[in-house]
Amino acid sequence: MCGIFAYLNYLVEKDRRYIINTLLTGLSRLEYRGYDSLAVNGDKENEFLIFREVGKVAALRAKIESQSTLDMNKKFLSHTSMAHTRWATHGQPCEKNSHPHRSDPNNEFIVVHNGIITNYKELRTILEKNGYLFESDTDTECIAKLAKYIWDNHAKGSKPTFTTLVKAVCKELEGAFAIIVKSTHFPDEVIATRRGSPLLIGVKTQKKLKVDFVDVEFGGAEAPAAVAQPKGNSLLAPINPSHPPMQRSQSRAFLSDDGMPQPIEYFLASDPSAIVEHTKRVLYLEDGDIAHIDEGELHIHRLRRDDNMSTMRQIQTLEMELAEIMKGSFDHFMQKEIYEQPESVVNTMRGRVNFDTRTVTLGGLSTYLATIRRCRRIVFVACGTSYHSCIATRAIFEELTEIPISVELASDFLDRKTPIFRDDVCVFVSQSGETADTILALRYCLERGALCVGITNTVGSSISRETHCGVHINAGPEIGVASTKAYTSQFIALVMMALQLSEDRISKTERRNAIIDDLCRLPQVIKETLALDNELKQLSRESLVKQASLLIMGRGYQNATCLEGALKIKELSYMHSEGILAGELKHGPLALIDENMPVILIMTKDSLYPKVQSALQQVTARKGHPIIICNTNDSNIPDKYRTIRVPQLVDCLQGLITVIPLQLLSYHIAVARGVNVDFPRNLAKSVTVE
Ligand code: AGP
Repeated sequence: MCGIFAYLNYLVEKDRRYIINTLLTGLSRLEYRGYDSLAVNGDKENEFLIFREVGKVAALRAKIESQSTLDMNKKFLSHTSMAHTRWATHGQPCEKNSHPHRSDPNNEFIVVHNGIITNYKELRTILEKNGYLFESDTDTECIAKLAKYIWDNHAKGSKPTFTTLVKAVCKELEGAFAIIVKSTHFPDEVIATRRGSPLLIGVKTQKKLKVDFVDVEFGGAEAPAAVAQPKGNSLLAPINPSHPPMQRSQSRAFLSDDGMPQPIEYFLASDPSAIVEHTKRVLYLEDGDIAHIDEGELHIHRLRRDDNMSTMRQIQTLEMELAEIMKGSFDHFMQKEIYEQPESVVNTMRGRVNFDTRTVTLGGLSTYLATIRRCRRIVFVACGTSYHSCIATRAIFEELTEIPISVELASDFLDRKTPIFRDDVCVFVSQSGETADTILALRYCLERGALCVGITNTVGSSISRETHCGVHINAGPEIGVASTKAYTSQFIALVMMALQLSEDRISKTERRNAIIDDLCRLPQVIKETLALDNELKQLSRESLVKQASLLIMGRGYQNATCLEGALKIKELSYMHSEGILAGELKHGPLALIDENMPVILIMTKDSLYPKVQSALQQVTARKGHPIIICNTNDSNIPDKYRTIRVPQLVDCLQGLITVIPLQLLSYHIAVARGVNVDFPRNLAKSVTVE
């Protein structure tokens, strides 16, 4: 997800330095979302200056400050400016792909965008056929080009208003977006609109606003529907000039007592963290709202009345402080990220899994599929939680592809100088894409001619750039050092890879269909599991918080869950914990079991259930009293055992659900122990040193 921010001052004189600083500060509040660029008005009439830089806000600030010709003392009584921090989904992180994107070299229309336009390829094809040449690889650029196309296709004298034009553009867009548009044709105006991505408007005035709401305005020119077979080569039927232009009512909210527009500043942003330090008076746009700011007045338009939606937008007062807002209503980033998983797993699968046709398409691998299918073996290389996601999916990879699989810890892989050959495929899994051990392993494999695949959450990271191909897990930024949503998204990305590799095996069709059907259920099933949170909080405080150690046992698909759960407990609560393969109990670990040793046993319904039952008997025979993670519908568990009951999924996906109680338990134990949940001692989010 990206961050967008805009600042407008009207009858409030500000110099360029203040404006740029306001934009940069706004970006820094959204920085966890990616990296940066901004656009401000130039010195000439209708001129926009655009600055872009790959990297953090500090790099953009340095670039702007190095512009010797830029008069930072120039004052503007009224001015509009916008900025963007990019979490790349389409196109590598580089200057040409940074926002704002423009319609043409004269910046007639410039756009910053948060979201994904899913039909951008079709739009781009039509626009290119009509002579609109693209500069970037992004989906966003088609918005700016489409605006210019519509503008150009209306004769002088029948040009649409800014609002009507943007309405016509939005009619053509599919997917999720929040956009802010500026135009040299409407120099001191801004349009902001959203569909599926957040966007809010902060309002700052010297005098108290007359009312604390804005009426929504309806009607006006019906933005033309896309014409399936457009007349000639027009993308759209021209906007019917007989329709009266959008009626603009007087926004009572923004007038001073004498009925004149009052000095005012507006702050538009993806989330309140970028606004709260300027003003706490904010208005949240709803999907389909088109906000038009002109001459200090804010007008909100909609095409048609929506009976389920208010006809007013309340100007609210933010209660939380900045430090809190970044985490939303959560106490920690890690907690927020655990709760984001119903959405993050959807983002990982978005545009890749077609649940109707039961097909999987990972665009980043398409040209390498044949090579991977023919390879001698697949070697997974990763660290920590990313390593566990490889362990979790090894069995389904072997079953679906029938290719030998090995899973390596990057550091040990390098220590052993593991033999690697040209007909090997090496898959490097890394949330940050910057883990030193994993990068060194990647370079080791590149030198030996193997095909290298990257599975990362950070486009533009070293691993995503240095591998031959790969998959972006699209989990969104993960701030908490303890990885949670990245684990489940990596898990899904690897399952999707196995599904796509095996799509040519008829014998695997039934199995693949069952897995894809359960991927479709996943968001709801995760939500149901998150509902156990209070029960788990109580369990952690009653039975676990004071323990010195905790053993987590399972086998088969749940082995990875045990390893990952133990890592979460260790790194968050500093309590010793160990993931134990239940089949290994008799070979030593059983000696640890007595009435004082806490044990969690994962016993979900799959082919190994009877063997895990045997492990349960071994533990209880030594006076152990394990907590059992089992399926909701399992009636075989004697009432004397404490259970954590989770919904059942197909065996190879069940680990996506059984890990959630362990994420939550580790969180609550850490909170109860008073440790720094988001930044545990001695640890870093990305281990960029060996
Ligand atoms: C997981 O909770 C840890 N933060 C750590 O094990 C992490 O998974 C490991 O350092 C690998 O990081 P990466 O995924 O960014 O490569």
